[in-house]
Amino acid sequence: MRVVVEKDYEAMSRCATDLVQKAIEKDPQCLVSFPGGDTPVGMLREFVSRVNSGMIDPTGVKFVQLDDWVGIGPQDEGSCSHFVNTQLLTPMHRPFADKFLFDGSRIAAIDCQLKEQDAFIRRYGPIAVEVLGIGMNGHLGFNENGVDFSLRSHRTPLSAVTKAVQKKYFGGRELPLAEGITQGIAQIMESELVILLASGVQKAEIVFKAITGPVTNELPASILQKHPNCIWLLDQDAAGLLPRELVEMKNP
Ligand code: GLP
Repeated sequence: MRVVVEKDYEAMSRCATDLVQKAIEKDPQCLVSFPGGDTPVGMLREFVSRVNSGMIDPTGVKFVQLDDWVGIGPQDEGSCSHFVNTQLLTPMHRPFADKFLFDGSRIAAIDCQLKEQDAFIRRYGPIAVEVLGIGMNGHLGFNENGVDFSLRSHRTPLSAVTKAVQKKYFGGRELPLAEGITQGIAQIMESELVILLASGVQKAEIVFKAITGPVTNELPASILQKHPNCIWLLDQDAAGLLPRELVEMKNP
């Protein structure tokens, strides 16, 4: 596990895009996965810009979404599928070769969609580069506290922390969202490269615990200590509590 610290959010986002670009150049047919949330916005902007300027060729690449809320779909602002469409897929002038997105509003078809996501990853995988954010409770995707580390794509109740944080994605509105759908830890751990992005002082404590504390399903991101090729890519604020000897400082 490497912990790389960039001076700010923009530098962190560029570095993440560099790593994704390298993985695509190594295998232009590869499978990639990016998360929802606020953290990857800068990376997606940079990725789209490199696609549109011809630096990254996405036409052989397959894309799989990480997670989404049960009850809202691509038509709903704040859903992860809406985010992926508006921040990534629509602005790209050249599309991916294939993609898998959830539609959390199709409640009756949730189990079927989970099987489809698992099959998509088995067909094109393993995931060559899995970009992740980290929740305030240490969740990865919607792998919440207490998750079974052996699960693949699954449906899960949302934790109290996730329910409290969620309104930031919906303009401050409280939606009655109680469940999530997500890739499981098994799929994340099978990925060839994991890039965990975290930015801002509000993430410093959970990042510190996940990197330096025990590996436990009570803090799902701690499992990344056991991944053979994982990079924690942080800005200085998110890295604020980590001992200096643990981190590689880039362009301080
Ligand atoms: C959200 C999403 C995750 C995301 C994480 C961090 O709830 N389910 O995919 O990585 O929590 O989000 P943010 O980047 O907004 O802090």
